[in-house]
Amino acid sequence: MLRPANKGYNNGYHYHHQNGGGGSLSRRGNRVRRSRDYGGGDGSATTRVSASDRDMPPPPPPPPTDFDMAYFHSYAHVGIHEEMIKDRVRTETYRAAVMQHQNYIAGKVVVDVGCGTGILSIFCAQAGAKRVYAVDASDIAVQANEVVKANNLSDTVIVLHGRIEDVEIDEEVDVIISEWMGYMLLYESMLGSIITARDRWLKPGGLILPSNATLYMVPITHPDRYTESIDFWRNVYGIDMSAMLPLAKQCAFEEPSVETISGENVLTWPHVVKHVDCYTITSHELESVTTSFKFKSMMRAPFHGFAFWFDVEFSSPAIFPTDNNAPSSVIESPTDHPIDGSQRKKRANPNEALVLSTAPEDPPTHWQQTLIYFYDPIEVEQDQVISGSVTLSQSKENPRFMNIHLEYASGGRAYVKESVMR
Ligand SMILES: C[S@@+](CC[C@H](N)C(=O)[O-])C[C@H]1O[C@@H](n2cnc3c(N)ncnc32)[C@H](O)[C@@H]1O
Repeated sequence: MLRPANKGYNNGYHYHHQNGGGGSLSRRGNRVRRSRDYGGGDGSATTRVSASDRDMPPPPPPPPTDFDMAYFHSYAHVGIHEEMIKDRVRTETYRAAVMQHQNYIAGKVVVDVGCGTGILSIFCAQAGAKRVYAVDASDIAVQANEVVKANNLSDTVIVLHGRIEDVEIDEEVDVIISEWMGYMLLYESMLGSIITARDRWLKPGGLILPSNATLYMVPITHPDRYTESIDFWRNVYGIDMSAMLPLAKQCAFEEPSVETISGENVLTWPHVVKHVDCYTITSHELESVTTSFKFKSMMRAPFHGFAFWFDVEFSSPAIFPTDNNAPSSVIESPTDHPIDGSQRKKRANPNEALVLSTAPEDPPTHWQQTLIYFYDPIEVEQDQVISGSVTLSQSKENPRFMNIHLEYASGGRAYVKESVMR
């Protein structure tokens, strides 16, 4: 959960280093292939799966960049783990998902991609896993190992301090668990590491938790926010400070903003930007995501921007086949329209899968919602159409950053907004 630069408008603290740098472990031309096994387990991790067991040996992973090292460094701080673990919606949904899938986990081999403090690995051990590989490239792995020891789980949970792309696990795994979701789902680009783990170690028919994820967007109205940050400058202790307005708009709205909104802020039903099936998604698909939208405002209001959020589902492989060529049982959203949010309800969910939602109408999480504000609101009438497209792409500068290209039109005028989540 890398924090973006503009996490909220109330000086939310964040740990990541925007300009990279500082990664003393990263040496160009001196590939870091570090994996530190903190012991425990039965030693079976030393028998590597031979290349002939796989169709083709995978290409070697690129070495970590300075940005990667800064990213992992940000996870060495206790505060970020405290915030995630204190998010009870998040943590308890994961625990419930582990318990709900106990029959897939008990007696099985699990890999926890990005174990942090080790909490999800320990949930899996409590559910009866035979062995859990708890992998983290951040120095938080040192603490994870202490936590595992203190809970007498060293025989079950093997902490590997290294990148998922680099560590050696010498057996196939039955289950992959990970909490990889960034703001706007894809910010932070950790999903690529789940794909790597899946393609390296997951047995056919194995389980991935969560199994799928969906990113949504919706037009919003937020007059309070606009008044607080912008209109405030019109009259400051009786002084006309309107000269501050252009700077105030730029500072408040240039970048995406992580804030909590409520159902009252949304102007219509949401649109599915991207559905991710963790069993079949490819890294290539994540480089750039484009969708067209067409909304109809359900009320007359100032239209201030768009909100984005996501949910993830924890479904069994019976619902989500591991055959990469098999169609997902989830109905993909159309690339254009819908004019209402009916697609959201069309998702096949025969088992009433557990859902972790970060929607405005659901209990708040530390992800909140991500807002892209316009510099000036657009007045919309009831039933007025808002159409356009959005492209989310990994930044060339740092693939963990996200470029957002938004084109939208309403009331006969067209607009473009470019922003970067960094
Ligand atoms: C969002 S945190 C989740 C931590 C923990 N699983 C939890 O739920 O509290 C993601 C963790 O994944 C780690 N991580 C991200 N990418 C990784 C990679 N490629 N290899 C190893 N660890 C990674 C980060 O260092 C971070 O500790």
